[in-house]
Amino acid sequence: MRLRVVLWGSIGMLLVPALVGANDTVTFTRDVAPILQQKCQVCHRPGTVAPMSLLTYEEVRPWARAIKDRVSKRIMPPWPLDKTVGIQEFKNDISLTDEQIGTIVQWVDAGAPRGDLAELPPPVEWPGVDHWNYEKMFGRPPDLVISSTPYTARAGYIDEWPTPEVKIPLTDLPEERWIRAIELRPGNAESRYAFHHANPSLIPPGAGADEERRERHQLTDSAVGTEGFIFPAGEGKRIIPESTVTFGMHLWPLEDRDVDVVLQVGLWFYPKGQKPQFETEGEVQLWISQGTRSGEVGPRGETRSTNPQFPAHSDLLIPPNSISIVRGVQVLRQNARVHSLRGHMHFRGKYQIVEVIYPDGRWETINKLNWDHGWHTAFLYEDHAMPLLPKGTTIILHSVFDNTRANRYNPDPDQWVAGGRRSADEMSHLRLGMTYFEDADFERLVAERERILTERKHQAEQRRANQP
Ligand code: HEC
Repeated sequence: MRLRVVLWGSIGMLLVPALVGANDTVTFTRDVAPILQQKCQVCHRPGTVAPMSLLTYEEVRPWARAIKDRVSKRIMPPWPLDKTVGIQEFKNDISLTDEQIGTIVQWVDAGAPRGDLAELPPPVEWPGVDHWNYEKMFGRPPDLVISSTPYTARAGYIDEWPTPEVKIPLTDLPEERWIRAIELRPGNAESRYAFHHANPSLIPPGAGADEERRERHQLTDSAVGTEGFIFPAGEGKRIIPESTVTFGMHLWPLEDRDVDVVLQVGLWFYPKGQKPQFETEGEVQLWISQGTRSGEVGPRGETRSTNPQFPAHSDLLIPPNSISIVRGVQVLRQNARVHSLRGHMHFRGKYQIVEVIYPDGRWETINKLNWDHGWHTAFLYEDHAMPLLPKGTTIILHSVFDNTRANRYNPDPDQWVAGGRRSADEMSHLRLGMTYFEDADFERLVAERERILTERKHQAEQRRANQP
């Protein structure tokens, strides 16, 4: 089976900054406002977590210098992924093009002029802040919303990890359904400030709730920066009546006031009675730490450990004032298609790199994350860019830690850092959204992919040929 699958799409991504002509002053109304509407206002408007609104010229003008700084360093919009290596086609890409960065920089350097009001695009009508992100796409709110019981995060207290459990009432879910999309959101305005991340699990009735099982039945993950998951067409996750949702949360309490934290999981289903062709595993957690949890992954989503006697992360030990790296290796036991990627490290995290060695020996970098503890973005691959990994593929995962002064998040570079749950300890794993396929189905997917990529290549050649 020949696979030339992953990287074709990214060829031709080198963007030449096509800057506005030298005589043409860049203005807010004509050039900058459309970029802010498209890439910034989803977060920078009243009532959201971002520190300031960027809706009007008057609001934006005082931030001009800070905006130039953050966008030219690619800190804003948050898209903590290396754009020079690996797959670059994502459904939820919010990053700026080089051209857009050039426009903003030119505008600030020119003194941030307002320009002609007649050229201002009409304002975007943003939905209320308590809307669901996927509501617009599906044309309806979630089919089922599960809210956690409130948990009070006390003012000035330490990190907390409450796990409220909620059994779904039979009246809400009288029959088996298949999940198409999942979104997690803070259930009230205050919760969004104290919410760091959560890993809700779905426990079927009668199943034990030990840690291993929980991992296997992981429902979704969400963190600041993660919107949710929409599974590829034809894939879904099964949910059966009287299941229990456990909300494994990590909270950062506020300094000045108690917060009653509520989280909500919203689920969109396939139509009643419709079973998608393939059952997805959703996010599969892969440990990255030498020796302890390396081994095999699949076919039911579990990561098999070669040394099960070691708890996860027990070998993680990062010297003071050091840059260090840990590596993990997993061999796939079943053919897989990867629909999403999300890293996980803490304050000392710097990079996470995913590589694969195909059974035929070719070695490829899938992606490199530029870790930023402020954001836990889930990267959702475009359908034609989702890695197709045959069984027997070796997945190599690297975590690079920066425990030096140069790391702006580092609370204390003179400390030894070990594995642990607090943000001041470290973690090292990542999650791949995976669906497993039998050989015949997988071969069909590979053939289909080759066809699509060939078509796209021809189209691109045609476009080039037609250019004057
Ligand atoms: C996904 C949400 C999101 C998007 C999209 C986003 N921002 Fe932000 N932005 C934030 C948050 C949250 C903060 C505060 C925390 C931080 O600085 O990381 C922030 C901080 C900033 C700051 C620093 C403010 C300060 O206090 O110094 C600037 C400047 C900024 N954003 C500009 C932009 C611009 C320009 C865009 C679009 C090109 C953008 N942001 C897109 C969420 C977002």
